[in-house]
Amino acid sequence: MAEFTAVGVVGLGTMGAGIVEVFARAGLRVVASEIDEPALERGRAHLTGSTDRAVARGKLSPDDRDALVGRVTFVVGMAGLADVDLVVEAVPERLDLKRRVFGELSKVCKPSAILASNTSSLSVTEIAVSTDRPDRVVGLHFFNPAPVMKLVEIVRTVVTDPAVVADAQALCGRLGKVGVTIGDRAGFVANALLFGYLNQAVSMVEHGFVSRDDLDAAMRLGGGLPMGPLTLLDLIGLDVGLEVLDTMYERGGRNVRHAAAPLLRQMVTAGLLGRKTGRGFYTYGESAAAPDAAPVGSSADFVTVTDEPVIGAAMATDRPSEVVGLFVHGDKLAEVVRTVLTSDAAVAAAVASCTERGLVPVVCGDRSGRVVNALLFPYLNDAVKMLEASYATVDDIDHAMKLGCGYPVGPFELLDSIGPETVLSGLRALHRETPEPGLAPAPLLEQLVTAGRRFRT
Ligand SMILES: NC(=O)c1ccc[n+]([C@@H]2O[C@H](COP(=O)([O-])OP(=O)(O)OC[C@H]3O[C@@H](n4cnc5c(N)ncnc54)[C@H](O)[C@@H]3O)[C@@H](O)[C@H]2O)c1
Repeated sequence: MAEFTAVGVVGLGTMGAGIVEVFARAGLRVVASEIDEPALERGRAHLTGSTDRAVARGKLSPDDRDALVGRVTFVVGMAGLADVDLVVEAVPERLDLKRRVFGELSKVCKPSAILASNTSSLSVTEIAVSTDRPDRVVGLHFFNPAPVMKLVEIVRTVVTDPAVVADAQALCGRLGKVGVTIGDRAGFVANALLFGYLNQAVSMVEHGFVSRDDLDAAMRLGGGLPMGPLTLLDLIGLDVGLEVLDTMYERGGRNVRHAAAPLLRQMVTAGLLGRKTGRGFYTYGESAAAPDAAPVGSSADFVTVTDEPVIGAAMATDRPSEVVGLFVHGDKLAEVVRTVLTSDAAVAAAVASCTERGLVPVVCGDRSGRVVNALLFPYLNDAVKMLEASYATVDDIDHAMKLGCGYPVGPFELLDSIGPETVLSGLRALHRETPEPGLAPAPLLEQLVTAGRRFRT
């Protein structure tokens, strides 16, 4: 078993700076490398800021902070990496760049050093073959923010030495992380499932189906997620999101779920990259927009909707313009569905009535699954397809989404609690509306429902 004493991190942006902190917290000496002085200073400021905040919150003593920061050496270029036992590369998600960096690491690092990439979607195999030691190259995919998220996906290629994988597993344990070892497939487990969902969320906003704030509120309150998808994209970085989607689309069989929404591409071109540039879907410093006050005195008839569009039910009445769909999730959220005929006054009345009942109303268009189920069910379907392809187990997939993305439950736990038959019928309705192969219900789900079984029992 390899002894790790000193490690290197190349690229100190959103991920690299956090990974430096993870290593230094675990008592390892860290050589932190950047491309030039200004970027190095940003990386240093990131580490100081993060550890100072930990001290202010009482999570780290000032002495431990000083010892932690003292274990990190900041260098421009890669010459300082000659003696490290392992390097994690965290430069931007471009294959040519990563191959160049790994070529250089081959020359600089000692032959026994393990070279690891934090890539989210690129082929670790293609990166590995640009080095002098493909058998000592692995993916070590940390999640954002690295000091907080417990998961590390350990990506082994067909040539990775099993001893290197074992060392990577042991290192994850030392870092207080949970390592899940998987093969080299675009997006690995967590991103392959996460990004289809994030992309679909962007499309919904792009098409005016639901507003930005309503969409994020729906997934927090109705989907039980720690943050809405647009807030999460801002945190990840829209440029990173776009690169990951483009790579998964190309490498993953051109699945329509990974064909990047044009809005995402436009925002990246415009430099709206999320938190790191101060503006993405949100402008940072901006407080959440309050919902508009509803006009008083208007009225609406409510119908509770199933997976079908509301307009059918509305047309069975003598005043379809006063009909909205209302779908209540637990005691928190109400999706208010406006049809092509619903009047503004009817929507306003429905919104006001939900608010009076202590529900947060989100207004959306008249489509199958509305916001929450339309986003959740295809994500669950993707998880079943991943299981069906024998890429990962039920436990690994559930673990990956909980520990990598902070989801309260994994997709199979969620599927079982909603009921596979309910999810299947929702998926069939969605697929009728958008008959794309990527949205077809997974055969394994169909079979499970026929057999009356669940995934985890
Ligand atoms: N952002 C996320 O949420 C996230 C999560 C997991 C994995 N990743 C992956 O981590 C990697 C880095 O992403 P990020 O979001 O931290 O990017 P980023 O743009 O925030 O940071 C990249 C850093 O690399 C530096 N860099 C560029 N060329 C370099 C070189 N030749 N030598 C040294 N440094 C160099 C840049 O100056 C920059 O500071 C990508 O592969 C990404 O897919 C990102």
